[in-house]
Amino acid sequence: MSLRTTADKNNRVTLIDKISKLKEERNAVILVHNYQPGEIQDIGDFIGDSLGLSRIAAQTDADVIVFCGVLFMAETASILCPNKTVLLPDINAGCPMADMATAERLRQKKSEMPNASVVCYVNSTAEVKAESDVCCTSANAVEVIASLDAEEILFVPDQHLGHYASTQTNKNIVLWPGFCPSHMLIQPDHIIQLKQQHPQAKVIVHPECRHNIIALTDETLSTSGMCRYAQKSDAREIVVGTEIGIIHRLKKENPGKTFIPAYKGTICPDMKLTTLEKVARALETLSPEIKVPEDIRLRAKASVDKMLAVSK
Ligand code: 13P
Ligand code: SF4
Repeated sequence: MSLRTTADKNNRVTLIDKISKLKEERNAVILVHNYQPGEIQDIGDFIGDSLGLSRIAAQTDADVIVFCGVLFMAETASILCPNKTVLLPDINAGCPMADMATAERLRQKKSEMPNASVVCYVNSTAEVKAESDVCCTSANAVEVIASLDAEEILFVPDQHLGHYASTQTNKNIVLWPGFCPSHMLIQPDHIIQLKQQHPQAKVIVHPECRHNIIALTDETLSTSGMCRYAQKSDAREIVVGTEIGIIHRLKKENPGKTFIPAYKGTICPDMKLTTLEKVARALETLSPEIKVPEDIRLRAKASVDKMLAVSK
């Protein structure tokens, strides 16, 4: 092993030790999204999808939540737990899709569709959640939409998840033109070629993929849905169409199986901003803290609570 590698390894061990001590001192919990770098997944108390992590945030006894993910996830935790300190290790970790819908533009669109119910994907700002009737995640979008009385739905901001839900329900769904730049990188040819190279493989993708990708696959699942599928499936090879950070967890939990990224370049740069150093610093300084103004928080919480009540 080179001197540099040994030094890096020692540094990592020191940081992990520091994080573990600070965590205890602060009575903190570390929540980690499935797309986070492997070394961050490995220090998490809980790892999961947006739905699972918001449920844990709502129930935890910890005083401090370190959210290793992106801003909308930390905001959701803060919306549910206003008395806890919610930390996002890198304040620049945003979600370009969430920024594709603003509260002002949503208000304007709502005035054009007075009979529609507004369903917002949790990948949205707190202000947009506050303007919506109910929230959903990729794990429960179909269930949430089916539970509504309204026949007309305005779905923000992800057109692709909205389109996928429209194929699974009888509602008239009007789509906001948002999208995830990382999932857009997956092309039909990637899937077609991998199916030729691995004829026995199952193909699973996230519903943020385009419909022409979903049409080529076996299952469309949230990130934790993918982890459950991998454990239950008899398939020895699985092609995975989502952000490649999830491959770390899939391999760790299923050592006998092979996971093949649909496209290796499916990387969310915001998810990769978290480092062990930043987690340690966040615990040390109790910053950057994420807080949502109370008037917005209360209205956003009503949308999130409605989702949590529908999706048990
Ligand atoms: P999940 O809720 O499926 O984890 O997805 C979150 C996300 O940001 C997908 O891009
Ligand atoms: Fe947002 Fe896409 Fe990154 Fe998910 S993968 S956080 S939707 S940019």
